[in-house]
Amino acid sequence: MKRFILLTLCFCAGALSAFSQNKKVWFPDKDLIQAGVYYYPEHWNESQWERDFKQMHDLGFEFTHFAEFAWAQLEPQEGKYDFAWLDRAVALAAKYKLKVVMCTSTATPPVWLSRKYPEILIKEEDGTVLDHGARQHASFASPLYRELAFKMIEKLAQHYGNDSRIIGWQLDNEPAVQFDFNPKAELGFRDFLKKKYNNDIKALNSAWGTAFWSETYSSFDEITLPKMRQMFMNHHQILDYRRFAAEQTTSFLNDQCLLIKKYAKNQWVTTNYIPSYEDGHIGGSKDLDFLSYTRYMVYGGKDGIGRRGYRVGDPLRIAFANDFFRPIKGTYGVMELQPGQVNWGSINPQPLPGAVRLWLWSVFAGGSDFVCTYRYRQPLYGTEQYHYGIVGSDGVTVTPGGKEYQQFMQEIKNLRKKYSPREDKPKEYLARKTAILFNHENSWSIDRQKQNATWNTMAHVDKYYRQLKAFGAPVDIISEEKDFSAYPVLIAPAYQLIDEALVSRWTEYVKNGGNLVLTCRTGHKDRNGRLFEAPFRSKIDNLTGNKVDFYDLLLPEDPGKVAMDGKKYNWNTWGEMLIPGKDTDVWASYTDEFYEGKPAVTMHRLGKGTVTYVGVDSNDGTLEKDVLTKLYSTLNIPVMDLPYGVTMEYRNGLGIVLNYSDKPYEFQLPKGRKVLIGETKIPTAGVLVFK
Ligand code: GAL
Repeated sequence: MKRFILLTLCFCAGALSAFSQNKKVWFPDKDLIQAGVYYYPEHWNESQWERDFKQMHDLGFEFTHFAEFAWAQLEPQEGKYDFAWLDRAVALAAKYKLKVVMCTSTATPPVWLSRKYPEILIKEEDGTVLDHGARQHASFASPLYRELAFKMIEKLAQHYGNDSRIIGWQLDNEPAVQFDFNPKAELGFRDFLKKKYNNDIKALNSAWGTAFWSETYSSFDEITLPKMRQMFMNHHQILDYRRFAAEQTTSFLNDQCLLIKKYAKNQWVTTNYIPSYEDGHIGGSKDLDFLSYTRYMVYGGKDGIGRRGYRVGDPLRIAFANDFFRPIKGTYGVMELQPGQVNWGSINPQPLPGAVRLWLWSVFAGGSDFVCTYRYRQPLYGTEQYHYGIVGSDGVTVTPGGKEYQQFMQEIKNLRKKYSPREDKPKEYLARKTAILFNHENSWSIDRQKQNATWNTMAHVDKYYRQLKAFGAPVDIISEEKDFSAYPVLIAPAYQLIDEALVSRWTEYVKNGGNLVLTCRTGHKDRNGRLFEAPFRSKIDNLTGNKVDFYDLLLPEDPGKVAMDGKKYNWNTWGEMLIPGKDTDVWASYTDEFYEGKPAVTMHRLGKGTVTYVGVDSNDGTLEKDVLTKLYSTLNIPVMDLPYGVTMEYRNGLGIVLNYSDKPYEFQLPKGRKVLIGETKIPTAGVLVFK
């Protein structure tokens, strides 16, 4: 056994160092960041390609992105491939020094495929079978779909895998978890369950609690995909279904990746996820070199600051995605960033002048190795006609967003002349490094049993994240696979599903000097979503140094109050009334109702570390802000106090300050630092870079 572990460790270390070696070649520190743009040669007259690539190059782009939705052109008839047109596009791009990201086009099967093999089409819960004529209508759970897709991908990889003009691969497009009721998905679900429960239907019955309401199964063949919209559907079953559905997407991507890697020489493989934290499942395809995301900032959402905030976007939308994607593999890319107006929003306003450049710098600030924009030309036909590009409908006039890309790329080129290594970051910044522990399964589980309609898991997480960004802290959003000891503070918000192994890891982390923050709803259930047969939430009592007496949920129009250090805070979504142990300090207590005076927030010292337990979710995040401020000051961790809308990060020896707020912000330049881009008085949508 020991030998096995040793071998595995050696193997992993080998694989890791091979990856970091490659990373140095793919994304050398001296490049800082590389910029690219989507181009669909098949949409345009071939006589225009050269003109377009030349202008792309002149604007400063370094790579382009091909064949994302081109399966019909790559394989016009089953088994008949045509890569000649793509070869010509790759050659012309190379003439203008543009490298190419090649794509696997599995989001758009050709019509022959859907007509000849209709079994590959996704079936929705209400029975609707999706059809050809849009995209993303093929079922990842269909073995036949996979087989046909892999044939095409293998041909493409054989053709381009050893081509130095191709830098890397994007698999599929925005691969989501499919809630697909295709009969093949149902068969797949049964196989998944047989494997998970070792063919033992009793084990499944116990995990799903099927004694309740006569739900007991006598064989796996009786199991169907759970109807998510049916009231009171067994939520243990739904939890397993979501795991299964997530697995379909991750294994489809992983198999594509392994296939490409058979042929790919020095090319990276990634995919472009929508950062969908609550519903999605990001990071499951282990063989991908790194993950990329797509992000759209202005689409009519009202989450920006001030009257014109909808033209700038949510100040932490890119930051959170950066901090989520980067820790998965240590690096990440941004595959799509909007260049201007989109066409699919509720309202599709113009971004504020400067906003596109602000987003580009936000991507850079998070440590990304590349940024790519969707798309070069505004489409003249098809679903996305009103979508902006880097150039407008004439194919040549550079849009305002296009000019902001050009400016950004020029700024980066100037900075490259005097680059520092990517990890060159000041000590006081690293001292406040904090991790947020996140598992999609907690939000899947809570979502089916919210208990209070106003509860919102991501809004709860955001209350902590927002304050960390106000501290100017580098934040990693991590999964349980990561080593906790790398972080002085680890926050696990509303971590509902736990097991003994996790509790021991938390305990060891704290005993060795870590500072753990656990929040309400943590530790209630096991990984099947069952409550423990023990006093409520007692599995973590030794850690928290408190017990939960009971919990209460209130009407939003009549919130309760919690007091800490003479200040009061409103709450309504979730409040746990705590009983502190003898070594536990009470930081905040309820001030009304029949539980007036009962603790809501406690701090417990354990071994060399601490556990702060926040048993309540405040309405506006001010309690979370003040608890973290008190904690970091108790721990002597130096923090900043940036207003909401302003963030600061470091990379490559550069400090980057971004202003998403509706007022100018005067930044105090740290001693000995010099401004390289912008001014210390940073306007709305402005950027300051200093060294
Ligand atoms: C993305 C998608 C792209 C394009 C874009 C339009 O979500 O991945 O293919 O449709 O939206 O904004």
